[in-house]
Amino acid sequence: MIIRKLYQGEKSPINLLLLADPSHSLVEEYLKRGECYVAELDNQIVGVYVLLPTRPETVELVNIAVEESFQNRGIGKQLIFHAIQLAKLKDYKTIEIGTGNSSIGQLALYQKCGFRITGVDQNFFIRHYNQKIVENGIQCKDMIRLSLEI
Ligand code: ACO
Repeated sequence: MIIRKLYQGEKSPINLLLLADPSHSLVEEYLKRGECYVAELDNQIVGVYVLLPTRPETVELVNIAVEESFQNRGIGKQLIFHAIQLAKLKDYKTIEIGTGNSSIGQLALYQKCGFRITGVDQNFFIRHYNQKIVENGIQCKDMIRLSLEI
């Protein structure tokens, strides 16, 4: 498997990006402002993430997703470690990530990769999304913010 930057002019894997965030407009906004990386296996794009500069020395990992049939094989972890290395190379000091209060697996994964919880953006998903999101039998209301000093 290789992880590479999306080529100039190459179409972004929008369906994969929408797996991580159902808001088309937010995904488009992240693509405009950030850099998109893809995981490619046998010429098929199986994973994606976007690295988004936010504040001085800080970058956010957004829109990370792995094709459903390729999940739970360590690809998500490899994408996160790739993003951390890339952020280090680019001299960022902090990498952040945010996910819903109901995203139990994602919260486990990010903490396994070294991220620590720094805060809660209460009602983020109520404010920014029209449709109700439910995962693991829990309504997704709050954004859990995590970060890692690199
Ligand atoms: N409890 C404990 N650990 C869990 C749980 C759980 N409920 N669910 C997953 N994990 C752990 C696994 O045990 C594994 O850890 P291990 O390597 O120590 O065994 C790890 O999380 C999963 O690792 P990977 O196999 O590397 O992850 P995967 O390739 O499946 O990708 C991802 C993870 C990207 C979250 C994938 O499931 C996905 O695409 N989901 C849909 C889109 C999504 O929700 N994206 C994140 C949105 S938030 C954002 O983008 C910032």
